[in-house]
Amino acid sequence: MTPLRIAVLGAGLVGRRHIETIRALPQVAQLVAVADPHAAPFDLGGAPWFTDAQQMLDRIRPEAVIIATPNNLHVTQGLWCCERGIPFLVEKPVTASLEEAEHLVQAVSRSGVKTLVGHHRRYLTAAQEARRHIRDGGIGALVAASVIWATRKPDDYFNVGWRIQPGGGPLLINAIHEIDMLRYLCGEVRSVSGLASHAMRNFAVEDTAAALLEFENGCLGTLVCSDAGFSPWTMEQGSLENPKFAFSGQSAYRLVGTRGSLELPVLRGWSAAIPDAIGWDQLIAATDLSVPYRDPFEAQLEHFQRLIRLDEPPVVSVRDGANTLAATLAILQSGREGRRLSPQRSS
Ligand SMILES: NC(=O)c1ccc[n+]([C@@H]2O[C@H](COP(=O)([O-])OP(=O)(O)OC[C@H]3O[C@@H](n4cnc5c(N)ncnc54)[C@H](O)[C@@H]3O)[C@@H](O)[C@H]2O)c1
Repeated sequence: MTPLRIAVLGAGLVGRRHIETIRALPQVAQLVAVADPHAAPFDLGGAPWFTDAQQMLDRIRPEAVIIATPNNLHVTQGLWCCERGIPFLVEKPVTASLEEAEHLVQAVSRSGVKTLVGHHRRYLTAAQEARRHIRDGGIGALVAASVIWATRKPDDYFNVGWRIQPGGGPLLINAIHEIDMLRYLCGEVRSVSGLASHAMRNFAVEDTAAALLEFENGCLGTLVCSDAGFSPWTMEQGSLENPKFAFSGQSAYRLVGTRGSLELPVLRGWSAAIPDAIGWDQLIAATDLSVPYRDPFEAQLEHFQRLIRLDEPPVVSVRDGANTLAATLAILQSGREGRRLSPQRSS
């Protein structure tokens, strides 16, 4: 397969990670341009830097684009790609609102452009193995899931204006990955109840949120997320997926089934010490199910290449991303309105 000629829109925190990933995998992709009107240009190994994204698309005519700009630009830039017939990978959240997401879903469907949403955690080998283990009946019927994402972001993280406004908080920036992962592991979300608080920092955006989730298969879940509390329990700290996070080796997910349980990302399974002897008076034993680690951004880029070259179905389509966004926004809305809600699913 020939490498994809990729351009990146937005060279901030995550755009730089995409750029590094492209440059690390020359057999998969070639960086042909970057567009960012504000960031200071840096060495791109010969690829040109543009300040105007549309000008770049028309001059360079990349074969594929990665959109890594602030959330409110995703819909417009996704539409630019649809108009030009350019496949794109858009960072999460797919868009800033459900209306925008629906608009993009329709445009993608009309244009036939191939797309992917950057929920990179679905490429973690531990997550894939957890899903396989659950689907193979490794813990019996899924009863409950409990997830924590809690770490203290540094004070200077909040010097960027959009991060202290609604939409820039831990629910839409961080916990949306957990909601996507819960959908991946437990199935569709039927209803949510949420609470959000900004008691620790007093910004307009939440610093802490909690949710109760009901899944269509009857499984129930809890989610706590906070960027104001210091803990070892985030998917990033428990795996190696983000070099900015100090490794803790602790699990952030506990998935409970009728025949056993599973911790993630450590991937420790718990089951009856004596086969079929299940009950509170019976010994339960841990088994290490660990699988070799693979950088999920690299695995995502390889999938993007196969999606374009070999017609592989997207791991996370724009519609799928819209449904993760719907469940996440429903948590915020439920907190505001003080009632349980069903996410407004895209069909
Ligand atoms: N997958 C992940 O784990 C992950 C992690 C962090 C952020 N994100 C997502 O990635 C996106 C970017 O987040 P970030 O933390 O990198 O933000 P950031 O603020 O660090 O970077 C955004 C960049 O976009 C640039 N930009 C602004 N307007 C632009 C335009 N019109 N054209 C091109 N570039 C433009 C900005 O100058 C900035 O350099 C957000 O949607 C965010 O939710 C995903």
